[in-house]
Amino acid sequence: MDARVTEIQFVPKGDERGQLIALEALSEQVPFEVTRVYYIFDTTPGTVRGNHAHKNLKQVLICVSGACTIVCEMPDGTKMEYRLDWPNRGLLIEGLVWRQMKDFSKDAVLIVLASEHYDEADYIRDYNQFRKGCAK
Ligand code: TYD
Repeated sequence: MDARVTEIQFVPKGDERGQLIALEALSEQVPFEVTRVYYIFDTTPGTVRGNHAHKNLKQVLICVSGACTIVCEMPDGTKMEYRLDWPNRGLLIEGLVWRQMKDFSKDAVLIVLASEHYDEADYIRDYNQFRKGCAK
């Protein structure tokens, strides 16, 4: 799978009562079956999470409260930073992307929709292995 990071904009179904965003599996925004959902919250100030890549996993990250920064590095060394600071923004990460999550605000709740069950064998935690593009 090619490494790819896509910024996604969700369209809120807002009215005078407030906002609502609905996400559906196998849609343009979430182009996979959602098999797992996890969320990160109550993050200790200064914490940097992640520091790994995945071989096959597809994920959509949404900061539904507060803000955090996602740093994505491609196998060729290209780096991009994305500030997720509003519930209508998401980040789709596919393929071999080294990711870090950092600069969490105190109220940050980062929800992640994932295409697969948790599987340690899908992780690449060795940065040098990642840079070699070795997915084995
Ligand atoms: P970890 O991989 O360190 O999280 P991050 O990538 O955000 O830094 O995961 C923390 C712990 O939670 C670790 O013991 C593995 C476990 N875990 C699960 O059991 N299921 C999951 O879906 C995830 C993402 C983590």
